Amino acid sequence: MDQRVLAPLRERSSVKLDDVPSTLLIPLAARAFGDAMFPTFAAGDAYAAPALRKMDVDVSPFLRDKPSVFGVLSRTQVFKQLASDFFERHPYAIGANLGCGLTHYFQWLDNHTNHWLDADVAQVMRLRKRLLPASNKRHLNALVDLSQPGWWQRLGLPERRSEVPVLLMCEGVLMYLEAHEVDHVLHEFGQNAPAGSEMLFDTLSWLAIGCASMHPSVCHTHAEFKWGSKHMRDFTAPHPRLALRSEHSIMDDYDFSMALASSSFRALWGVPLYGLMRLSVGD
Ligand SMILES: C[S@@+](CC[C@H](N)C(=O)[O-])C[C@H]1O[C@@H](n2cnc3c(N)ncnc32)[C@H](O)[C@@H]1O
Repeated sequence: MDQRVLAPLRERSSVKLDDVPSTLLIPLAARAFGDAMFPTFAAGDAYAAPALRKMDVDVSPFLRDKPSVFGVLSRTQVFKQLASDFFERHPYAIGANLGCGLTHYFQWLDNHTNHWLDADVAQVMRLRKRLLPASNKRHLNALVDLSQPGWWQRLGLPERRSEVPVLLMCEGVLMYLEAHEVDHVLHEFGQNAPAGSEMLFDTLSWLAIGCASMHPSVCHTHAEFKWGSKHMRDFTAPHPRLALRSEHSIMDDYDFSMALASSSFRALWGVPLYGLMRLSVGD
């Protein structure tokens, strides 16, 4: 492990992050400093660089991992677009970013009538309170542990009979949960969400499980990949109301060899090596 990455963070009494929560630094660094590397995919995140400056942590090893920087910016673009399409259709809906880290999607998605909830585990939310306080009355922060069933009710998300659908996002999160925990998360969404709700999340393939030490950025955090999809039906099997609405590639525009590797993997194994899924719930 490169001690320069996390040592300054761990030495500060006010900023303590365990292995998995510390992975939030990877996308934060990309959104803070990646725009100049990939201008076509620039995130334009007004909050990331100021937040990182206040943390005073050396993220240079993450920035040397250019494919990951690109992957974060590319997936941010897709999450933004899909969420913004959702709010076009449902302007009064609530969006919830579960495992939000130090993202601030409401800077892009606030349409003056929708609501937004950012939720993560306690140590991340403490950090968030200091660095990224909620910006207005329609923007709330909450604690969530997705490994504990019952989070839908604990977050006070709308009941199934509500007429207004909910948008859920899990970005860079589910791969750190156990497979049965991911099944429960998807089941809980299918069981509780009002009809027309959508869930957006990124996913690794099962080949990545146990291989985080080979990932050029995640290796610095000691977090491990525990869940990856083996079949496309893994996404919808947890509840009969779930349907896969669309699948989005993230890495194809990095370069030709990445595009070839992604499409070959998808064709050979039937699931993406890394991709983004959009699920919806029916009646
Ligand atoms: C790679 S970071 C992604 C953060 C943010 N979504 C982003 O893209 O910048 C993974 C995040 O998942 C959160 N996370 C991991 N396990 C979780 C759980 N059981 N419940 C809630 N959040 C969790 C971590 O705390 C961390 O903030």
